[in-house]
Amino acid sequence: MGVIGMGSAWLTFMPTLAQSPRVQIIAGADPRSAARRKFAADFSAEVFESAEALCASPAVEAVYVATPHRLHAHHVIAAAENGKHAICEKPMALTLDECDAMIAAVERAGTHLVVGPSQGFSPPILKIREMVKSEQFGTLGMVNTWAYKDFVYRARSLEELDPALGGSSVLNQGPHQVDVVRWIGGGLVRSVRAMVGMWDTSRPIDGAHAAFLEFEDGAAATLAFSGYGRFDTDELHDWVGEGGQQRPAGIYGNQRNRLVHMTAAEVAAAKASSIYGGGRERAVELNGGPPFHPHFGTTIVSCQHADLRPSPTGVTIYDDGGRREIPIPVGPTAQSGVVDELYQAVREGRPTLHDGRWGKATLEVLLAILQSSRERREVFLSHQVPTAD
Ligand SMILES: NC(=O)c1ccc[n+]([C@@H]2O[C@H](COP(=O)([O-])OP(=O)(O)OC[C@H]3O[C@@H](n4cnc5c(N)ncnc54)[C@H](O)[C@@H]3O)[C@@H](O)[C@H]2O)c1
Repeated sequence: MGVIGMGSAWLTFMPTLAQSPRVQIIAGADPRSAARRKFAADFSAEVFESAEALCASPAVEAVYVATPHRLHAHHVIAAAENGKHAICEKPMALTLDECDAMIAAVERAGTHLVVGPSQGFSPPILKIREMVKSEQFGTLGMVNTWAYKDFVYRARSLEELDPALGGSSVLNQGPHQVDVVRWIGGGLVRSVRAMVGMWDTSRPIDGAHAAFLEFEDGAAATLAFSGYGRFDTDELHDWVGEGGQQRPAGIYGNQRNRLVHMTAAEVAAAKASSIYGGGRERAVELNGGPPFHPHFGTTIVSCQHADLRPSPTGVTIYDDGGRREIPIPVGPTAQSGVVDELYQAVREGRPTLHDGRWGKATLEVLLAILQSSRERREVFLSHQVPTAD
């Protein structure tokens, strides 16, 4: 595989890709020379200044696209036109037209596209979907999911704080929530009503949302998100972090306190030094995966006869018999399901589940959240596809 874009996402996905027995990392592309030098040294890999040059390399069979949102379409299409499969970071793109162009390019080329990683791949979420689909607890009534974190107060480039270039917590963080509720609820969202908040004008991106989604079959989902670094839903998840790592309990507002008094330029400089090749990036553990399942806050799934909750170690069931835990083995790395999905499509001819149409349908919900908030009305959807399980 080749890696296109060596920023924060790459640091997060690196343990999964680097440790997968199904992947050999042989190439990387990024305009930043420091990142290329580090990549070449870390992986004994060929490096390129441009994604196009990497895509033209005959040795590369598939790419991981982790560039800023606005470049996803361009890079996935370049990969497909060169016969390469792709894992594309979320959100799939910024517009539905871009998604259509990506889907068409992949279909023309006969390659495979997986849109992820997102928390929709988390094993407890997949298990809950199995339980919901089997109707062992009756029909699904609602999925409620809350995530409170410090998204707005992470070190951000100037581009990430520009809504015109895709700076938005709905577009950046919303895919996790929308993928989770769509996967569990069967995929087909009928309509969206939402409020989106921008509460810190020094960081002019939306940073909070509350959304009500109705599925075609009448089930409902609510999404609540705050990226303002005050309450943290990891507190309700035994202080297990989003990546499945154990966090120190009770820390409060560290990131926000560190960044809130910095100018935008100082924050951008902090970001540049903290990403791959920046010199002050976090150490990445390449020896096994996290101890717990990844998650995205608190999610409670209510069926007629039980409430189900993804837990750090499996699924907790609350029904007439009481409360019990179904343990699920933690995967070898946090997002191994994403790699497995591409591998099974390419090598075993199985269909991709989180394909371009799935990614487009998730983006349609995200754009509807923004539109509903702007226009203060319910927005109806027309590009939804069912969960492909
Ligand atoms: N799934 C996740 O958990 C997760 C986590 C973080 C980010 N993301 C997603 O990954 C994407 C990237 O986000 P990020 O936080 O890593 O951003 P970032 O700014 O940290 O990194 C972007 C990288 O892309 C490189 N780049 C820019 N233009 C390029 C080009 N033309 N060709 C090749 N490389 C180029 C930059 O130099 C940088 O290294 C976003 O779409 C974001 O939503 C996903």
